[in-house]
Amino acid sequence: MSDRRYITTPIYYVNAHPHIGHIYTSTINDVYARFQRSLGRDVFYLTGTDEHGQKVETSARERGITPRELADENSAVFRSVLEMFDISNDDFIRTTDADHERQVQGFVQQLLDADMIYLGEFEGWYDEGQEEYYTETKAKDLEYKSPVSGRSLVRATEKNYYFRLSAFQEAIEAMFRDQPDFVRPEARRNEMLGRIREGLNDVPVSRTNFSWGIPVPGDESHVIYVWIDALFNYITALGLGDSDGDRRESRAHWWPADYHIVGKEILWFHSVIWPAVLMALDLPLPRCIYAHSFWISEGQKMSKSLGNFIDLDTLQRYCDSYGRDALRWYLATQGPLGATDADFSAQHFHETYTTDLVNTLGNCASRVSAMIGKYCEGACPVDSGACAGGGVDWADFTSGQVESSIAAMDQFDLAGSISAGLAIIRQVDAFINDTAPFKLAKDPDAHVLVETILYRCAEAIRIAACLLEPVMPTRMQELRAAWNLGDATSDLRSECQWGRLEPGTVIEKVALFPRIEFESSSD
Ligand code: MSP
Repeated sequence: MSDRRYITTPIYYVNAHPHIGHIYTSTINDVYARFQRSLGRDVFYLTGTDEHGQKVETSARERGITPRELADENSAVFRSVLEMFDISNDDFIRTTDADHERQVQGFVQQLLDADMIYLGEFEGWYDEGQEEYYTETKAKDLEYKSPVSGRSLVRATEKNYYFRLSAFQEAIEAMFRDQPDFVRPEARRNEMLGRIREGLNDVPVSRTNFSWGIPVPGDESHVIYVWIDALFNYITALGLGDSDGDRRESRAHWWPADYHIVGKEILWFHSVIWPAVLMALDLPLPRCIYAHSFWISEGQKMSKSLGNFIDLDTLQRYCDSYGRDALRWYLATQGPLGATDADFSAQHFHETYTTDLVNTLGNCASRVSAMIGKYCEGACPVDSGACAGGGVDWADFTSGQVESSIAAMDQFDLAGSISAGLAIIRQVDAFINDTAPFKLAKDPDAHVLVETILYRCAEAIRIAACLLEPVMPTRMQELRAAWNLGDATSDLRSECQWGRLEPGTVIEKVALFPRIEFESSSD
């Protein structure tokens, strides 16, 4: 892998309000991006809003405002939410940006010129709510009902521009074969392969029944299908549709993306249609489309009528009670990155917080800093090399955890990466129990030994904190400040080298994660 990383979230529809789905994707990308930056890698993290289409036009009409006004308003909401959750995106693209619209038209023109897009007529099963056509097989599976709204699919005929997806049958199959990690997790890849083998049909890429979209170049009676418009965001943000210009010059080197992180319901667009479009344009393909599963809530699918919908207010309440970093921790360690859905429950949230953060990380840091306060006058002691027992080769153990944390993060295994950091803390706890410095402290002759033990504990905690800073930036910076560790250096490996903690550094007592009483009303 090279030293640059390009990572994207889906761009969010402006006709909905932010909820856990959006915050989740934005947060996991953020953890990955911060971690990669901490390794000194050149990261570009893109997110934004998807603003065209019939639904936006209709919602705007219902409210008596223009689609542009609606898009401006809701895009600003999504942007402010990113600040609320401490998301460190490098850019925020809007599909109504003139730069994006111009480049999309350029790409579509290129596809028209190459006869990859043609004007044709189509009849099929159409989901009006989702603005999506289904094949006969899929429509039959769905009993001719929308999987989202439950409303009947309608038989629709349209004169449309089509993208020649059928021409890419072999190329897509070959790509899936040659790049086994192109779609992850594996179960999702198999689903996609099954669908691909049913045969790829050309897809309509324009609409005529509304006008809120980017016009097809040369035929203003059609607007470009919102999904095609949206997928292009990943390359228009880098200026790939321009032959020169500042944006292209400074950003084009990030393509191809390392990870497009998406939800499972939008994987087909990303893993089949998008690569085919890129092949048609002769552009390199992304390295991996990672499709996470869904959060359900209190054991059931989220729904407003069940009252278990996790919207922004609900998440804000969790932040108010437990702190923003606790929410980030829960999303990153307990989230649905695999092929199964994950349950967000108030009880599980509370247990995770108490076990991992209060009893393990918080307790360990406060215990060690308290002992340094009591037995070493609050200054980091010296490791005299005394045989402290406990049987741990700390330099070796921590560097092993650092490497496994980095390797897991490279694979987008957030929980795995974080657990390597937590394993260091657990080892410190076990070491304290084995060596009992609080007992040794009663014996003046054992002072050098106590100092050695406490140096090793503090140093191990410092290293764990470096690994955990991407998931909990605020709390880990608090620890840095209290222990006078200075700012992070963007060279994680050397920062995590054993022995960098300077004896004499003032170590203040910290209380990072307060114990909280469980209130079931916090859901
Ligand atoms: N606009 C399209 C994406 C275009 S990308 C070229 C879109 N937007 S969305 O706003 O509806 O969805 C954003 C993301 O939220 C999707 O990845 C979706 O999977 C995710 N989630 C929506 N509900 C979710 C859960 N309950 N749980 C986890 N994520 C889910 O789709």
